[in-house]
Order: sequence, then C-alpha cells, then structure tokens
Amino acid sequence: MRIVCIGGGPAGLYFALLMKKLHPDHHVTVVERNRPYDTFGWGVVFSDQTMASMQVWDQESAAEIKQAFNHWDDIEVLFKGTRQRTCGHGFVGIGRKKLLNILQARCEALGVELTFETDVDSDLDFPDADLIIASDGLNSKIRRKYAEIFEPDLVMRPNRYIWLGTNKLFDAFTFDFRKTDHGWFQAHIYKFDENTSTFIVETTETAYEAHGLGRMSQQESIDFCQSLFAETLEGAELMTNARHLVGSAWLNFSRLICGKWSHFNGRSHVVLMGDSAHTAHFAIGSGTKLAIDDAIELANQFNKAGHDKARIAEVLKTYEEIRRVDVARIQNAARNAMEWFEVVGDRYADTLPPEQFMYSMLTRSQRISHENLRLRDKGWLEGYEHWFARQSGLKVSENERCLPPMFTPYTLRGTTLANRIVVSPMAMYSAKDGLFDDFHMVHLGARALGGAGLVFAEMTCVSPDARITPGCLGLWNDAQMAGWKRFVDFVHTNSAAKVGIQIGHAGRKGSTRRAWEGIDQPLDEGGWPLISASALPYLKHSPVPKAMDRADMDRVKADFVAATKRAAAVGADWLEFHAAHGYLISSFLSPLTNRREDDYGGSHENRARYPLEVFAAVRAAWPDDRPISVRLSCHDWAEGGNTPEDAAIFAQMFKDAGADLIDCSSGQVWKEEKPVYGRLFQTPFSDKIRNEIGIPTIAVGAISEADHANSIIAAGRADLCAVARPHLADPAWALHEAARIGLKSVAWPKQYMSGKGQYEANLERAGAAAK
Ligand SMILES: Cc1cc2nc3c(=O)[nH]c(=O)nc-3n(C[C@H](O)[C@H](O)[C@H](O)COP(=O)(O)OP(=O)(O)OC[C@H]3O[C@@H](n4cnc5c(N)ncnc54)[C@H](O)[C@@H]3O)c2cc1C
Ligand SMILES: Cc1cc2nc3c(=O)[nH]c(=O)nc-3n(C[C@H](O)[C@H](O)[C@H](O)COP(=O)(O)O)c2cc1C
Repeated sequence: MRIVCIGGGPAGLYFALLMKKLHPDHHVTVVERNRPYDTFGWGVVFSDQTMASMQVWDQESAAEIKQAFNHWDDIEVLFKGTRQRTCGHGFVGIGRKKLLNILQARCEALGVELTFETDVDSDLDFPDADLIIASDGLNSKIRRKYAEIFEPDLVMRPNRYIWLGTNKLFDAFTFDFRKTDHGWFQAHIYKFDENTSTFIVETTETAYEAHGLGRMSQQESIDFCQSLFAETLEGAELMTNARHLVGSAWLNFSRLICGKWSHFNGRSHVVLMGDSAHTAHFAIGSGTKLAIDDAIELANQFNKAGHDKARIAEVLKTYEEIRRVDVARIQNAARNAMEWFEVVGDRYADTLPPEQFMYSMLTRSQRISHENLRLRDKGWLEGYEHWFARQSGLKVSENERCLPPMFTPYTLRGTTLANRIVVSPMAMYSAKDGLFDDFHMVHLGARALGGAGLVFAEMTCVSPDARITPGCLGLWNDAQMAGWKRFVDFVHTNSAAKVGIQIGHAGRKGSTRRAWEGIDQPLDEGGWPLISASALPYLKHSPVPKAMDRADMDRVKADFVAATKRAAAVGADWLEFHAAHGYLISSFLSPLTNRREDDYGGSHENRARYPLEVFAAVRAAWPDDRPISVRLSCHDWAEGGNTPEDAAIFAQMFKDAGADLIDCSSGQVWKEEKPVYGRLFQTPFSDKIRNEIGIPTIAVGAISEADHANSIIAAGRADLCAVARPHLADPAWALHEAARIGLKSVAWPKQYMSGKGQYEANLERAGAAAK
C-alpha cells in the first residue's frame, strides 16, 4: 500500500512507523509543514497504561521514550496558603520535541519517508496514495475540506490559557490556585525533562478581560503570570516558545467531535486521526494518548484483516467503531475535568474548605472515585475520611477506620439523620382512597429497617384531585392519618431512620392509570377534572386541564397547608415540597408548561410566584425545628425549557423563602424531553446548586453503589444521596453496601444480627475467591 500521513505530530509519526514496521513493503510517507525538530509546546503527559501498550507495539521507540520520560506519582495542590499532597497517580511526562524526535528517528530507521517544510493543501496532492491519514491536528485542512462528510462539531470553550515553561523543577504534578481582584487563576505544572517544567496558566474570560490580558504583549502576559505565581516560582522565570503567535498568546480550548472519521475521495481512502478527529482538554492530559492509541488501533486492524488495499474500507469502519467508544469515554472525563476548571473560581474556590477542595479537584473527571483514591493513596484517603467525619460531628480516633462520608450523620434544624442515604420517594400506586395500609407499612417499614438515614414515602397527595392515579397515597383526611401515625411510630421505635413525607399535587399529570396499566395514560373511567398553570394536556389525548384561577390557587394552597399540618401531627421528621416532574407546582416553574400572561407567567419571578406562595404557607405550617426540602426538575431536557441555570435561580428563591435543602431531580415535565442518562447523571445539578447557591442538596439518579455515594458526598457535590430503584431491588441496600465496602461498624437491626456476620463472611469469601 502507499500510505501518506499529512502532519507529523504523534498520530502521523506513530502510525507511519507502526505500518512500516508491521509490513515493510508498504510505501509510507509523512508530510509535515514544520522543519524537523521544530515544534511549539512544552511537555505532554500520558498514563502508564499508554506506555505499556507502546511497549507492546514498538519496543525500540518505547525504550527511548521511557529513558526520556519523567515519571511521577504525586499530585500537589497549592490553595489558600495550604500545600496538600497525595501519591499513587502514575503519570509520565516528556517534552513534545523530544517525543517527536524519537518518533522521527524511528521512522527514518524503519524506512518511512519524511518530508518536512511542506504545507499540504489537499489530499488530492497524493493521487497515488491508497490510504491518506489526515493527522494534521486540530485545525486540519483536510477535515475542513470535507466538513460535510466528517460533520465536525467544534465548540470553543470559555476559559483562556497560556502554555508556558519554566526551569524550576517540580517533583509533583502541581496545581496552584491564586485569587486576584478579578477572579481566580490556576496553573497546571509538571516537570518533563531534567531542566524544564510545563506551566499552563488558565483563567476565565472575565478575569482575562478585567486584567487586560487580551491587550498585552506576550512578554507582558508572562510578566503578569510571573508575578501572580511568584511565591511558587521562587524567582524562576516563565518562558514562552510560541513567539510565532501573533498578539495575545492566550488561547481557548476547542472541543471537537466528528460525525464520521473516514471518506473515499475517488482515489484514496482518507481517515482522520488524533486531534483532527477529536480533542480532549489538557485538564486530564489525554490528547497525545488518544493520538497514539488511534495509531495503534488502526495498525492493529490492518494486522487482523490483512495489509491489503482491498481491506481498507472494512478496516477503517472497524477502527472507527472501536475507537469511538474509548474516545467518547476519555472525552467525557476530559469534559468533566475541563468544566471543573471553568467553574472552579465561582463554585468551589470560595466555598469549599481546602481539604474538600483538594478532594473535589482529584475527582473532577468523575472517573476517579472514593475507592479508587483509597487504592492510590490509602493514607491520604483515610486522613480525609477522618477530617470529614470530624466535620460531621463525630469523635474519631486517629488509628481507627472511621465511617466513610455516606455513613456520617447529618443535621438540619432539629433533625439528625444517622447517615446520608435517603430512600427516594417512589409512587407505589397501591392505596385505596389515599389510605396508608398494610402494603405501605411492610414496604416502607422494610426500607426503614434497611439502614437508610431517611425514608421517604411516595408523593402524597393533598386532595383527591391532586392524585396521579387512583392508587396514590393522600393526606387530606383524618382517616388517612391513622396509617401514617402507626408507620411513623413503628420506624421511630424500631430503627434509627427518620420519616420523610413528600407532599404534592399531580396537576395536569393527574387522573391517569396505575404505572403497570399504562404510565401517564388517562383513566378510561372514574377520572377527575385537572388543573394546571396553563390549559395544556400532557399527552395529546390527555384531558385538557383548566388554567388555574385565583380561587383554585387559594383552594390548593389551603390543601397543601392542611396536609402539612397532618404530616406534622403524625410525627414525620421531614417534609418535601414536590416542585418537580411536571406536576402542579412544577407546571408553573417551566416555561414549556406555563404560558400564562398574568403575574404568574413569564419571568422567573412570575413563574415562581405561586410555587413560592404555597411554599411560604407550608413552611409557616410546618414546625420550625423540622426541615423541608424542595424537589426541583433541574433540567427539562427540552428546547425552550428550564436548564440548570434556571434551576439555580429557583433554588435561590426557595432558599430565601426558608427551604433547607434542594432535592435535585430532572425531567418528566415535557413529553418530548431528551434526557441524557448515565451514571450519576443528575449529580452535576446538585453540585452546581449546592456550591453556587450555598444551600444543602440531595443528589439523586443512577447512584447505585456506596462508592458513588461516598464520592459525591466527600467531594461536596451533595449533602445527601437519594437512592430509588436500588431500594426496590434491595430494601437493605445501605446495610448491604456497608458490608460490600468492608465496613462492619454499621449497626443492623438487633433482630437481624445473626445474619450480619454470615453476610459479611460470605462477601469476604467471594472477594478472596475472585482475587
Ligand atoms: C496547552 C496544551 C497542553 C497539552 N497537554 C497535553 C498533555 O499534557 N498530554 C497530552 O497527551 N496532550 C496534551 N496536549 C494535546 C496534544 O498536544 C495533542 O492532543 C496531540 O499532540 C495530538 O497529536 P496529533 O498528532 O493528532 O496532532 P498534532 O500534535 O497537532 O500534530 C499535527 C501536525 O500536523 C502538522 N500540520 C498541520 N497542518 C498541516 C498541513 N496542512 N500540512 C502539513 N503538516 C501539517 C502540524 O505542524 C503538526 O506537526 C496539550 C495541548 C495543549 C494545547
Ligand atoms: C417506581 C418509581 C416511582 C417514583 N415515584 C416518585 C415520586 O412519587 N416522587 C418523586 O419525586 N419521584 C419519584 N420517582 C423518582 C425517584 O424518586 C428517583 O428520583 C428516580 O428514580 C431516580 O433515582 P434512581 O436512579 O435511584 O432510581 C419514582 C421512581 C420510581 C422508579
């Protein structure tokens, strides 16, 4: 085959050398516009794992790269006068120039033709090529030429960064955060050879503008950074090697995803590789790793299918299928990490204590979890667990394993939860006339014995016409109170759990069948008239609700207040005001469902007017020493609907009105929603609201392991974790998760104690057998 790599960065060079090595008959050329050994940039990092696969594919270059590598394990965070360090993080750093020199020399040794100082305009300049690798970086001309085919989605991110170097040597991957009058700056610093460290300085566009950095020459920018980080630099200078950049050397990172990676131009197959196909932010140092991994996978596919022109199309297809999965994973992690650095000033730096700030930073990509940190640096993690437990009011002795974050107590007003796990409200559609009966007693009782700190019953309706289905629970009459009272007394007598009641009104989503008879489907008979913010049916064939008038508003408010008083009278410890999921209160908050033109529609303030009026009345009717949470849909997942920014505005309003905590759910407001599900998918909303608005939160949604809950709570992304479906599968989820992480000090109900030891021993045995 005749192979041409346009662009001699890590992707083009590594692929060229692999193909020539695997099949010396190939004619392989790399065409690079720069001179040999001439490049911009300082050091790059990649993981031990990439190094291991390079070792497998080409020992010669791997050996040289290894020799030139700087390997380090530690991460150090400099923040508000503190210096914190953890180990076990395993990175390698190498100068970009050095890496390219090694790859160029190896290409030459294998017989790859290297052509320098040639700026390629088009793939058609190589009519004889069978395969053209567009390894021409982020600004790829080839990708731009075939933009309609490759469908690039290029998003310029808001932060500014400048890539500098220094001769001061750092013995850890160092992150240095500095506050100025106009906002925070952070430096990402790592040593990459015997004399030099990379020093990337990053800040927000606001701080960049306010300091006039856009108008400064490169030298003035360098002087600015030097004085800002003077304490860390200890007299060392910052240097640039990008003098060729005109004007300000501060860049914005561009995130690139392409719809397709390859194309047949009539003569040759053209394929994107490395930065021309996808980018990953430097916050997790993966750009070079991805480029090298691309090269390895494409060569691997040729090895498998045969180094034959006839197989190119099929090879490219498989290559793309396989690589897309890994690339998406890394881009996802890189996006989380990038976003962390974009909001660090507004969200974390001024709110989190240094210890928690460090934990949040280490878990920023959400790929590194609590237990993962334990594997990396047990001493540090246990120290952090001790710190966290002390913050939660526990007395801990240094030498003992202390309770991990999810099992620490939590106090709001006069209520203390034994731990941070909440049984999330889940409608069971099993009541008659709204009565709490044996089903609810057994179902919720089992969960109260199962170890969660707070057990919510399902949405409990404030009037018969507030129900979703005829099977929903209610608190609109005294008869209903009896069942509740019996349950609350049972829980308080027999467990350490607290009882939460979520009160709500179904609004336009009412009068439907029980879930298993057709979710959201209108009742065929026995239905009731609906009310909502506006006269919009939920489904096309749902009954049209009446847009509430003032008399409806007064009646519903009174129903909420009466239900609140009943909840207080039965002894519930916690009340949740259901303002999510498209039900009545939520229908006012979302612009999709609230089309009113009076004082209750339009602006945020107007849309929240009625919800806040009801909430204030509820708060006033609820005992002062008991907490109220508000459940919000923090994202409508639909165009024109509420976003997390809107949710933060509403959270602030509820906070001002006396809400103690926001329960951060999302969706179910608009039938055409397009939610993006995934592990912990709603936790970012909780993180934003907790740390930007300064109100405690509950995270919920696809939290299914102790490791998830510990990571969320330890990082300060939420105060409590609500777990729904896993509690349907396992009433004792919290106790079982404690056992799974080897925590024996969490008490089981005394009646079940003989099951505890056996359960733990079985897990230990299974764990040992799996090793
Ligand atoms: C501030 C910063 C820090 C980074 N830190 C890291 C890090 O720590 N770890 C990491 O792994 N990655 C890091 N990266 C990313 C990394 O540099 C790239 O992801 C990686 O180099 C991609 O390799 P590539 O071969 O695809 O593209 P590139 O390295 O961009 O190579 C493309 C090559 O094509 C050449 N070229 C372009 N157009 C033409 C043309 N028309 N004709 C001929 N030649 C052409 C260019 O001159 C260049 O040599 C960082 C990037 C930045 C901006
Ligand atoms: C069967 C079922 C019923 C639910 N009923 C309610 C409810 O009454 N009120 C509410 O706010 N959320 C309700 N939810 C949503 C859950 O409380 C939770 O937010 C959601 O299931 C995501 O959590 P998970 O991934 O742990 O299941 C329900 C969920 C399920 C599975």
